[in-house]
Amino acid sequence: MKIIGTGSALPHLVVTNDDLSKFLDTNDEWIRTRTGIQSRNILSTETITELAIKACLDCIKNAKIDIQDIDYILCHSVISDAIIPALSTFIHDAIGTDCPTLDLNGACTGFIYALDIADSLIKAQKAKNVLIVCAEEPSKFVDWTKRETCVLFGDGAGAVIVSEGGFDSKIHLKTQHTDALYCGANYGNSPFDKQEMKDPFLYMKGRDVFKLAVQSSKKDIDYVLEKAGMTYDDVNYFLLHQANMRIIDFIKEQFGLSCEKFPHNIEYTGNTSSASIPLLLDEMNKNEQLKDGDVLVFSAFGAGFTSGACLIKWGKN
Ligand code: UT7
Repeated sequence: MKIIGTGSALPHLVVTNDDLSKFLDTNDEWIRTRTGIQSRNILSTETITELAIKACLDCIKNAKIDIQDIDYILCHSVISDAIIPALSTFIHDAIGTDCPTLDLNGACTGFIYALDIADSLIKAQKAKNVLIVCAEEPSKFVDWTKRETCVLFGDGAGAVIVSEGGFDSKIHLKTQHTDALYCGANYGNSPFDKQEMKDPFLYMKGRDVFKLAVQSSKKDIDYVLEKAGMTYDDVNYFLLHQANMRIIDFIKEQFGLSCEKFPHNIEYTGNTSSASIPLLLDEMNKNEQLKDGDVLVFSAFGAGFTSGACLIKWGKN
């Protein structure tokens, strides 16, 4: 599997830490030192569907591929504008393809899940080119009166097109039980439903998530490196889920590697859930930071508790 193009889209509204401190008991210093975040983009007048479509069109342009050559659309989003139809079907209609579409929900690990499914579709010869888009709007399920969670997140969409050929990428996924991250949902008005109403906002045990993130990320990365017969030194860049700069620093220190190998953009995106790695990858691609043959390791973690890593070589050949 190889990545032949990347794309992204962010909402136009930039919200700084100072903006948040106008209505929350928080401050720039706390948010910067505990998370590394300085600002994030939040949906206001646009929809997540529009953002997802924009990221896909940007990606198709970057890949220089004919739209009719896309064989599958995989869309990852924790929530979107409609329960049905799936977000991927709106993308299908907007870009004008005639291929199958599927929505997934693997929380913040979603990009790795989508890569795994795309890899399987390609290996089963059901697709040659798969468009993946991770489009997330955590701003819709965090409680904007709770400083513990709402300051951490941002909205955005990142896309990639993966194709047949290239390096035999290594992917590892894992789910372990935890109640550290949860967001309830209440649907419909069934007269038979005797369940209590659930809190519709994100609930998070921050310190537990922090520990799980550091432990699982290291194990997942070690696993894919072992499968590839490589060491930390063989990797050019580790693109970690942009959840907290301190989590990224912790993992980097465990590996004893230099900062340059751990690119980040959390400063100005916040945690964009599954979109964080494709957004970062697109930024590196557009800035021409990546060279053919570069070994990239993606590592993500999120509610479930899901986690996973993917080792891939950069380059269209
Ligand atoms: O995609 C996965 C999503 N989640 C994560 O990655 C989260 C992982 N965890 C974390 O990033 C960190 O645990 C947090 C950034 C969420 C919190 O950092 P912490 O160092 O674990 O802080 P804490 O929760 O222990 O809170 C320390 C203090 C508390 O006050 P007291 O009890 O010491 O008086 C909090 O009430 O900081 C307070 N606090 C805040 N203060 C100002 C919590 N949030 C804020 C805030 N502004 N936004």
